[in-house]
Amino acid sequence: MITRTSDTELLNWTGDTLGIGLFEDAVELKDDLATLNQKYGGVFSEVIAEEEFTGKANTTVAIRVGANSPIRKVIFIGLGKVDTLKLETLRIAGATLARTAKKQKTKTLGISFPIYNNQPAATAQAITEGAQLALYQDIRFKSEPEDKNPSIETIDLLNLSGQQPAITRAEQIVSGVILARELVAAPANAVTPITMAQTAQAIAQEHGLELKILEQEDCEKLGMGAYLGVAQASDFPPKFIHLIYKPATTPKRKLAIIGKGLTFDSGGLNIKGAGSGIETMKIDMGGAAATLGAAKAIGQIKPDVEVHFISAVTENMISGKAMHPGDILTASNGKTIEVNNTDAEGRLTLADALVYTDQLGLDAMVDLATLTGACVVALGDDIAGLFTPNDNIASQLQTAAESSGEKIWRMPMEEKYFEGLKSGIADMKNTGPRYGGSITAALFLKQFVKMTPWAHLDIAGPVWADKESGYNSAGATGFGVRTLVNWVESD
Ligand code: BES
Ligand code: MN
Ligand code: ZN
Repeated sequence: MITRTSDTELLNWTGDTLGIGLFEDAVELKDDLATLNQKYGGVFSEVIAEEEFTGKANTTVAIRVGANSPIRKVIFIGLGKVDTLKLETLRIAGATLARTAKKQKTKTLGISFPIYNNQPAATAQAITEGAQLALYQDIRFKSEPEDKNPSIETIDLLNLSGQQPAITRAEQIVSGVILARELVAAPANAVTPITMAQTAQAIAQEHGLELKILEQEDCEKLGMGAYLGVAQASDFPPKFIHLIYKPATTPKRKLAIIGKGLTFDSGGLNIKGAGSGIETMKIDMGGAAATLGAAKAIGQIKPDVEVHFISAVTENMISGKAMHPGDILTASNGKTIEVNNTDAEGRLTLADALVYTDQLGLDAMVDLATLTGACVVALGDDIAGLFTPNDNIASQLQTAAESSGEKIWRMPMEEKYFEGLKSGIADMKNTGPRYGGSITAALFLKQFVKMTPWAHLDIAGPVWADKESGYNSAGATGFGVRTLVNWVESD
């Protein structure tokens, strides 16, 4: 599918379907739209009145004009009240319009939306992101596609001439989001620690990044006992991924993105029981998927920032070699951990990834992890938890998330709760009491950060969507990629 800007005036545009955004309670057709309405004998204003279309966000009305006219169909789409317009409104409207148009067998779609806040580039980017993310269908594991409608071949963005670079940027970001979705959605027999390393290799090759893979013996040499404790029951070798993007010029900042990379989480010997969602635990590499997705996008966008993409990839399995509940592991910073629950494995793998990254001497690091069910209890399916002792990174990430439309909410790092992780025999336990479980998890991670300003995003909720909504299909969302790209590019 090609998305492009069109210099054609609304009245002269020809193609299958013309999509027009209208604000709530301002659906009377003015200016060009009045002329268009007249040209087709007033049918648009008639149908708008008949169907009581009020421009409420995401409502649509589709009107067939005729097979032999320069446009076959017009779809009006509501944008809500003019003063509540956000980039996210345009993203979602772009998505709804693209989906509706596809169902109506549109091959060429023209889009005429208002420009957000005098920002044509951001507007073009948002519409493109929304439409392309909504049209993506994962048919890798189907022998035959279910959707028999033809693909949309061309999307023309009207009144956005000169914004081709913004469209290209959107496409680069979308390619990263789709990579993340595909990695998360693929089952654990398709995405393994080995294939994750291969994906990193492909990104490195395609976009000119540096790649280091630390094999098991490298990790042993570095004393990564926490990560390797989790990895020891898997029949796949652990793969510690370190991708590096370096700009051509002196970098403005040096950053790291770290992702939890459990290609499957059975719980280990504290095996996940009935109703625990064990069959969904292929998603437990969602943090690593967002990390690789961001690497793919950033490798194309090429900002003046050095970025390190890191994941300690493995799976949490059971076998005679598995950690026993109660085992004591020593992480690469020398801290000892009593594993009172083998199902709190993500924080063990992240511990060594954080120690490793902290030693790179960077300006900031952010980890993303499907870390706790408790975070989903706290914030629900759509919102990620943000945990950081650093107000500066917190506001950077909040700004980045606000403009991506991905929802994050800052949670407290209540130090008192660290008492819950006190161990009688080691430096700490890996799990505390049930209540406040996402906070103790974040406090556990904090023990492995010494120098680098750090934030943690618990994405256990938004990594997956149960049903289609906005530009997300049911399934993997690719959550995190768009916020990370914004964060890397912010000052
Ligand atoms: N991967 C899970 C967390 C998770 C739960 C992700 C639901 C996505 C959806 C994590 O490794 C885990 O098992 N956490 C435990 C922690 C507990 C043992 C302290 C949990 O949340 O129950
Ligand atoms: Mn677990
Ligand atoms: Zn897990």
